[in-house]
Amino acid sequence: MTEPKAKNRTLLYNILFLLVCGGIFLFLWEAPPETTAKLPRDAKHLKFYDMKKKEAEQYCQECHRPDGEVPLSKEHPPKYRCLFCHKKQQ
Ligand code: HEC
Ligand code: HEC
Repeated sequence: MTEPKAKNRTLLYNILFLLVCGGIFLFLWEAPPETTAKLPRDAKHLKFYDMKKKEAEQYCQECHRPDGEVPLSKEHPPKYRCLFCHKKQQ
């Protein structure tokens, strides 16, 4: 027969486990939908749709470097691999 004390502890662990699962679930549930701007489908960007990601990314800086035509904002997240975040549109 199990000690009543040990039983209580098992119950406590089970409750803690459920709380942690619930927390993770809520966290994922609350995660915002993907809102990052997609790669524009215009004259300036259309040629990149036919390239491999890594190849295309070599050209982004031509216009999006700090002193370029369309510099990135100061708050822009780390910009390694542009097309992982700015996905191509369908
Ligand atoms: C020839 C210049 C040029 C190059 C090269 C270029 N862009 Fe752009 N990009 C622009 C201009 C101009 C705009 C702003 C107007 C527009 O949306 O076309 C822009 C806007 C954007 C936007 C913002 C769209 C929005 O809705 O706010 C993203 C994202 C972007 N470019 C990503 C890229 C990526 C990724 C690459 C490399 C694969 C790239 N650009 C290469 C000129 C360029
Ligand atoms: C880690 C994800 C990520 C990467 C990598 C990334 N971006 Fe962004 N980019 C964002 C977010 C987030 C925004 C601002 C919100 C939005 O676009 O809706 C943004 C905004 C932009 C804008 C609009 C102007 C601005 O600064 O707000 C342009 C243009 C742009 N990115 C181009 C690029 C280029 C070019 C690269 C590669 C050199 C790149 N991004 C890499 C996430 C990313």
